[in-house]
Amino acid sequence: MRLKDKVAIVTGGANGIGEGVAIKFAQEGAKVVIGDLKEDEVKAAEQKIKDMGGTALGVVCNVANKASVDAMVQKAVEAFGTVDILINNAGITRDAIFHKMTEEQWDQVFDVNLKGVFYCCKAVVPIMRDKGYGKIVNISSVSRFGNPGQANYAATKAGLVGFTRNMAKELGPKGITVNAVAPGSVETAMFLAVPEKIRAISAKANALQRPGTIEELAYSILFFASDESAYVTGQCLQVDGGMMMP
Ligand SMILES: NC(=O)c1ccc[n+]([C@@H]2O[C@H](COP(=O)([O-])OP(=O)(O)OC[C@H]3O[C@@H](n4cnc5c(N)ncnc54)[C@H](O)[C@@H]3O)[C@@H](O)[C@H]2O)c1
Repeated sequence: MRLKDKVAIVTGGANGIGEGVAIKFAQEGAKVVIGDLKEDEVKAAEQKIKDMGGTALGVVCNVANKASVDAMVQKAVEAFGTVDILINNAGITRDAIFHKMTEEQWDQVFDVNLKGVFYCCKAVVPIMRDKGYGKIVNISSVSRFGNPGQANYAATKAGLVGFTRNMAKELGPKGITVNAVAPGSVETAMFLAVPEKIRAISAKANALQRPGTIEELAYSILFFASDESAYVTGQCLQVDGGMMMP
């Protein structure tokens, strides 16, 4: 087991890629804290893992709210004693072509995708610094290279890569690695919200000619969360079927 007895927080862990990560981590022996918006979804994800014989705690949390994030991290520590791994996965889109994009759409995406990561790291990094160990994985996107209709989202996902590099340099001496994974097209609710015509094109716009599965993403995130990546930090791995080859 690659994460035996490690405590992992997965934000946005009740659905999509986050849920896949929570399940994979539990299968690898981690105690998983699922932080997400809706109580019924959080409890359902927790139960799914428990039914598989894993250890999980579902916590209602809005990553865009500092008090909510602090309470989630406190509950994680009360339940499992520490935090070893933080997966900053919660993310939203509010797509519009730039001349139609509202300030509200801009702010909503920044509040969740970047400020939420700031709050989560603020709450978890002191715990990791104290113990001299930690693994942080930020979920970026292929859209970081630009995608029409996603100026707000692309800015946050590119910003996350800068944040990842900066945090890696600051936290390396403290035994903490910080990496990012940038998915291409993965069949989750977020992807299914894209108009069908565009979805059909983007699903095949990669060398492998197909969208990725949640499990394929979970494996790459598992690599950065486990000690198999002990000597890798500050990196952003494209997991996009060869859509971008930067
Ligand atoms: N699906 C894709 O094709 C794709 C591609 C590139 C990047 N991503 C990124 O992967 C991550 C996961 O995406 P997904 O496709 O699984 O999305 P999803 O919409 O299926 O799931 C996202 C989860 O995050 C939760 N969430 C949203 N706002 C939150 C908040 N404020 N606080 C806590 N939880 C919140 C949602 O409730 C949901 O459970 C996101 O960061 C997304 O930007 C996805």
